[in-house]
Amino acid sequence: MEHTVHPGSIAIVDFGGQYAHLIGSRIRRLGAFSEIVPPETSADQLKDATGIILSGGPQSVYDAGSPQADPKIFELGKPILGICYGHQWIAHALQGTVKPGKTKEYGRAQITITNPTAIPFPGVPPETTVWMSHGDAVQELPRGFQVTATSEDCPVAAMANVERRIFGIQFHVEVTHTTHGQQMLSNFVDLCNPAPWNMRSYRDHIGNELKAQVGDRKVFMLVSGGVDSTVAFTLLNEVLGTDRVQGLLVDTGLMRKNEVKMIEAALGKLGINNLKAVDASSEFFAALGTATEPEEKRKIIGDMFLSVQRRVAEEMALTGEKGWLLGQGTIYPDTIETGGTKHADKIKTHHNRVEAIQKMMEQGLVVEPLKELYKDEVRKLGEELGLPHDLVWRHPFPGPGLGVRILCTKEPEAIASLPKSPIEQSSVLPVKSVGVQGDGRTYRHAIAVFRNDPLMISEELIQLATEVPNKYKDFNRVLLCTSHSSPVEFTASAMGMTKERADSLREADAIVDEEVRKAGLHEQIWQLPVVLLPCGVVTGSQSIVLRPIASIDAMTADAFVLPSSVTKVITERILKFPGISAVLYDLTSKPPGTIEWE
Ligand code: XMP
Repeated sequence: MEHTVHPGSIAIVDFGGQYAHLIGSRIRRLGAFSEIVPPETSADQLKDATGIILSGGPQSVYDAGSPQADPKIFELGKPILGICYGHQWIAHALQGTVKPGKTKEYGRAQITITNPTAIPFPGVPPETTVWMSHGDAVQELPRGFQVTATSEDCPVAAMANVERRIFGIQFHVEVTHTTHGQQMLSNFVDLCNPAPWNMRSYRDHIGNELKAQVGDRKVFMLVSGGVDSTVAFTLLNEVLGTDRVQGLLVDTGLMRKNEVKMIEAALGKLGINNLKAVDASSEFFAALGTATEPEEKRKIIGDMFLSVQRRVAEEMALTGEKGWLLGQGTIYPDTIETGGTKHADKIKTHHNRVEAIQKMMEQGLVVEPLKELYKDEVRKLGEELGLPHDLVWRHPFPGPGLGVRILCTKEPEAIASLPKSPIEQSSVLPVKSVGVQGDGRTYRHAIAVFRNDPLMISEELIQLATEVPNKYKDFNRVLLCTSHSSPVEFTASAMGMTKERADSLREADAIVDEEVRKAGLHEQIWQLPVVLLPCGVVTGSQSIVLRPIASIDAMTADAFVLPSSVTKVITERILKFPGISAVLYDLTSKPPGTIEWE
């Protein structure tokens, strides 16, 4: 059966790049239904759409093999908006001309609107700033079109055939750099009068899509404990019924306190009891044994995950040939390259996009019901499905879990061999952690500073945390020691990844989580890694690092300043742990620090 678009939706023809998804998310924010379709989609498949947007794309309409939509869409009588490449494609397809650009225009530009009543301009000031990113440009208009906006470098910045409701714009309305972009998009959306989009309508829509994709087969899904896979699993159960879905949760021994129980309880309340939890913690700890290098630890954890999953899938006969598809909780940002989060990319590639999975995807054996959504939308969908607020608003937690937050050493560095601290009232920690500077990853020491009032995070300290790593190549982080007011030296001891260490970190993490929730700060903080270091102010002891951060997308981040009363309680409670001799507060931004330590 040929796929036809959701009735009443605005179809977004995806000409490449990442524009179509951004347009989709903007339209959802306007409360309207949209659906992304590939260029090959026929006009007939688009007949139930209320409007069509032709997205931008990286190619030139004259390139061999450049994406082409079905020219019959012009005969559907629906409103059409072409953006950038889409604008040029309209001109090209309707016998106008597009000239290859001599120079590329990239960045902000001023346009002058020459027809303020033409879509998308109603309500937009006559001179306005837009975002341009193109080489080619429309030179001659197709018959029946007029210029509706111009800019210095681009005479046809916008064009329209008002009668036929076909519009083209050279600039991108979907990016925030276009000052009135959302207004312009909204003008086109209103003209289309699309079906409303909300979580409930989306849930029905995605449910129909899932049913069509899965047919009479079943879905096996790996639930990691994170928000995304839990929401995807819940959705699959609701749509397909619990007897056609099987979940597997591998307990690595590196999960947060009560994580498995919390998920089982929330699912149980919804009548979902088909999640099999396998405790593989002893296998994980045995394999991790003496590993200390961050990348080595990640590889061991990743490989062990796959081997346990494979084993259980075989034991339960859940393989492709037996009519089982593989479900994944992939969300939209996971599918794009996110330069700044190199390890996240790596591990996500590992879990969601490894070669074996790519092959299964080509055979149509993978189901990813959340792949169009952003994190906040996934959370809303989770609540719509009846998952508890606290569960769907948990902070992001890395796939390898506490494994990345337990630092290990084989041969402790002697204090004498450490780089000298360039600042007063500080000491250098005898362990290194991963950071990021420029495009590269760093692996350097951190500096702990001491203050008479050890709970007071001043502007001066925050600045120091930026200046020191920028100026001194031996260091990538600056921490405030919240447990000591005058300088003390830290010594490291050989420590690997053990169950005992994971248990103490899990408890410390639970205390921090509890105090932050109690203070009503949980949802203001993007993430709050709690890190265990194999060094302390007493030989053989360990330290805990608090790493609260504010961020929008984890690509960049700043230290989040907790009220000193909260830091005080946390510090006091953690110092009562046997073997923990110091508490430190990471003040470093990303870059030069990363969010996780490793
Ligand atoms: P960094 O430490 O690179 O982290 O600043 C950026 C974001 O990515 C998360 N992260 C991971 N997420 N698997 C994941 O699913 C991983 O291996 C992983 N490593 C880091 C991190 O928690 C932060 O939100």
